[in-house]
Amino acid sequence: MASQSGVPNTAIVGLQWGDEGKGKFVDVLAAEHDVVVRFNGGANAGHTIVVEGEKLALHLMPSAVLNPDCELVIANGTVIDPSILVKEIELVEARGLSLEGRFHVSSRAHVVLPWHSLLDGAAEARLSNRGEAIGTTKRGIGPAYADKIGRSMAVRIGDLLDEPYLKAHLGKMAPLRLEELKVAGNDSAIDIDTLLSDLLRLGERLRPYITDTTWLLHDRVNENRSLLFEGANACLLDVDHGTYPYVTSSNASALGISPGTGLPAKSLGRVVGVVKAYSTRVGGGPFPTELDDAIGNRIRDRGHEYGTTTGRPRRCGWIDLVALRYAAMVCGADSLAITLLDVLSGFDVIKLCTGYRTASGEVLDRFPPDARLLKECIPVYESHPGWAEEIDQCQSISDLPEACQSYLHSLESHLGVPIEFVSVGPDRRQTMRRTLQPNSGEDSCCHPGSLENA
Ligand code: IMP
Repeated sequence: MASQSGVPNTAIVGLQWGDEGKGKFVDVLAAEHDVVVRFNGGANAGHTIVVEGEKLALHLMPSAVLNPDCELVIANGTVIDPSILVKEIELVEARGLSLEGRFHVSSRAHVVLPWHSLLDGAAEARLSNRGEAIGTTKRGIGPAYADKIGRSMAVRIGDLLDEPYLKAHLGKMAPLRLEELKVAGNDSAIDIDTLLSDLLRLGERLRPYITDTTWLLHDRVNENRSLLFEGANACLLDVDHGTYPYVTSSNASALGISPGTGLPAKSLGRVVGVVKAYSTRVGGGPFPTELDDAIGNRIRDRGHEYGTTTGRPRRCGWIDLVALRYAAMVCGADSLAITLLDVLSGFDVIKLCTGYRTASGEVLDRFPPDARLLKECIPVYESHPGWAEEIDQCQSISDLPEACQSYLHSLESHLGVPIEFVSVGPDRRQTMRRTLQPNSGEDSCCHPGSLENA
């Protein structure tokens, strides 16, 4: 499926545990697409866009918001805290960017209500006592999706525009919820009248943007506009295909696009998998290549690996090709965007995990479906020579030190997916791009001359 300009509908998804730097590629690729669509997650995601040194931190708004020619859609598969969305709208408008007529929010998307974050926090406290905390962002994501699936206690964005319905609905369910909170040990007094008037006020503020985005997106496809799907969170946090239960509560892999937008799978033309040059994870859950040592600390310091949403220090480790092969397969990645490569300058040796040794001594090359088994896995590493030079000013792949080019080549050949982008810094200009020829995956490598700058 391609637009008039021949640009296929593209998905940008993280292939690790999030924070791969997807926002930058959405920003870069938005220039080639007409519509940018968020299909999953909520304010648990965080992206910082840097343009000419200026930073904008967003959680809900699609990352392409700075591009005035792009239409922006938050589709049905998301969960939205309307107060956060309104704040982001105001932040964007304060920069003189108009959203009128180009920003749309699905009436089918679900509302994150104040008790969702309280229930999220209470569940985490309970799990934490047993040493099993998921380490959620406490943004109420899990409880909001649970209500969506449970049906009777949910509020959708469209409901914010229907006062009589919302009043009656809250009146029925709020007492149950407050009781539930009390049982969970939280006596927070949520005043229902205040909540109702807040929700109605926020609904009014959002009214110009609320629409049936399923029809809107089908219209855009029929008009041959090109769509860019922006994944939030990442493949290994996908509720079905990630390291369950240490996952988020939505389909955060490329597989979430159809249910999260109402578009059939055939609408998707290509998938760009975003991969950090090393691994990070926030919160709990198995992480075979985690480095709880000076190397891990150095990666954290150089990569500024602290959460955009929670500020938590991220767990850091070497790249995990077993997990990545699986994630690239599940997402159907056509090409890769390698990010934060500059962070790896100055290491004598860089390691790549190519297999997992289980407690029984067996070496796995397939990512296991069971977090308990994954927790027991010991990584099998291939060592690669490092490079001393800083590379953040490199303009093309051929400028990169030889050992660095060879590291990229190793990633590509292990994963069997061609590298399309390489990022060596947060700015849009610190991005190299390779023009991929159809079926070039086989002999693809990052040899000088095969790349150009984006
Ligand atoms: P939740 O999405 O807040 O329920 O958190 C579930 C798990 O997913 C936790 O381990 C979070 O740290 C992780 N998580 C959710 N969103 C992101 C993200 O955008 N980047 C990194 N980790 C995330």
